[in-house]
Amino acid sequence: MKGEGMLSIQGILNDVFAEAIRNAYPDLPEAPVIIMPSSNAKFGDYQCNSAMSMAQALKAQGVKAPPREIAKKIQDNVPSNPLISKLEIAGAGFINITLKKEFGHELLKNILIRGVQPPPSEVKHRVVVDFSSPNIAKEMHVGHLRSTIIGESVCRLLEFLGHDVVRVNHVGDWGTQFGMLIAHLEDKFPNFRTVSPPIADLQAFYKEAKVRFDSDEDFKKRAYACVVKLQAKQPDYIKAWQLICDVSRKAFQAIYDRLDITLKEYGESFYHERMLDVVEHLKKGGYMEEDEGRQIMWADGCKIPLTIIKSDGGFTYDTSDMACVRYRVHEENGDWLIYVVDAGQSTHFETIWACAEKCGFIDKRKVRLDFLGFGVVLGEDKKKFKTRSGDTVRLIDLLDEGLKRAGEKLVEKERDKVLSPEELKAAQESVAYGCIKYADLSHNRNHEYVFSFDKMLEDKGNTAVYLLYAYTRICSISRNANVSPEQLREAAKNTEISLDHEKEWNLAKVLLRFPEVLVKITKDLLLHQLCEFVYEVSTTFSEFYDSCYCVEKNSAGEIVKVNMGRLLLCEATASIMAACFHILGLK
Ligand code: ARG
Repeated sequence: MKGEGMLSIQGILNDVFAEAIRNAYPDLPEAPVIIMPSSNAKFGDYQCNSAMSMAQALKAQGVKAPPREIAKKIQDNVPSNPLISKLEIAGAGFINITLKKEFGHELLKNILIRGVQPPPSEVKHRVVVDFSSPNIAKEMHVGHLRSTIIGESVCRLLEFLGHDVVRVNHVGDWGTQFGMLIAHLEDKFPNFRTVSPPIADLQAFYKEAKVRFDSDEDFKKRAYACVVKLQAKQPDYIKAWQLICDVSRKAFQAIYDRLDITLKEYGESFYHERMLDVVEHLKKGGYMEEDEGRQIMWADGCKIPLTIIKSDGGFTYDTSDMACVRYRVHEENGDWLIYVVDAGQSTHFETIWACAEKCGFIDKRKVRLDFLGFGVVLGEDKKKFKTRSGDTVRLIDLLDEGLKRAGEKLVEKERDKVLSPEELKAAQESVAYGCIKYADLSHNRNHEYVFSFDKMLEDKGNTAVYLLYAYTRICSISRNANVSPEQLREAAKNTEISLDHEKEWNLAKVLLRFPEVLVKITKDLLLHQLCEFVYEVSTTFSEFYDSCYCVEKNSAGEIVKVNMGRLLLCEATASIMAACFHILGLK
């Protein structure tokens, strides 16, 4: 067994069958290698389903071959390998694969001895993940919450896989909103240069400024003048800007701390000088054209152009993202850029990437680009998520509400009777934040989802609460059998993991799918598949536990027999679940 990384059974089967197909049909180099876990144990453990589509491909070449015949030829060419015990051709031309249990045993033993390892990966990337990215002075809303939760988990996944990950908070800190904010600050706190203004509610401050901006022409003029002075980096204006940013920053950080999110801030302002360079480069290359006083840039296949310079000479969101993509590739040395932003911005990023490629900032053959869009969050009335009074829901209120609900749930379950106040608080936080994260992550991010505390706090079904309970129960099995972690570690080395019972083997097979699930998610970055997987682990575990005694007790409730081989299987289950929980941010 190879030392590095946790091998993927599907991956190895893929290699084995690719070789078989190559040898059997050298004239079909494009033949698809289709390997899947079998849905039913009658059809073996895995299946190779290539023969059907190969028959089609051969037909297109004028060769008539029935799929079963193709399957037979593939079977005859399967090279010697350590994991297959039996192959059978079934139905229309499926090859049913039965695995050697010893191989599964070795893999599980590795998990127990060395801990859960990522699959061995060939290339390590430097990945820049842009997520959360709220706007200064504006409230962080549920859309930013989705970005924050999804982005954090994507980072954790990629870090687990061994990539070098840069977590970037691209805060909106350089927009025109600062003009009115600074003008309003000057009026409200004239001595802000010497005394820090006590802005407790930046949201309200923003609203006041906005009202003036919309109704008072003089104020509006002053606001524009302030933007110009700010962007010219006049010290007084930079100071005012910093004050405002700091208030927001603190509010954002409070949320990140509660949700255990790590980010480094590189806001739009960071690119100010770099935007000048971008403009220079675009001018020199003749990439821009004039359009009603603006300077715009087109790229092939794009529906809209970028606005690089506005008619008043200012830069835009587009300009900053051009500077940003260039920075991430050339200065941050990223070879994989991920943007976790609401689906409404997909066209913006397509255009940015097309233009960046056109003017030579990126080479799509060398840099992987992913736009991780996500759908809107809906309220239980299926309309856009709002408070009863119609305002946007403040994130901090949402987290508080979650805490309150989780606390009630724990009391309902009488956990307050068994846990100390500190433990109860910790449990309350893991349930509250865990369920908010999990509810988000367990939905396909491309779809909208309904935010419902009642649903996410249910202790049945695919919820964080159910999984956290299931996990704690599994962890308590050995403890209740009076088996210490040391004894388990010792047993992992010299005791056979019990795999003879059908339910044991089913559980083992699900656990061993962990690396292939990760490999799949790395391709499409759809994390709900990890939620589905950990839920499957947990339900398969229940089936195993219902039919297989780990500990036998007599009528007096005394332990008479401990099945160590099964306890090891429980242990492996807990480790795999813990690895999933880490990626999903559950505690
Ligand atoms: N601040 C933006 C918003 O709230 C998101 C920024 C996303 N990242 C970027 N590089 N444009 O919509």
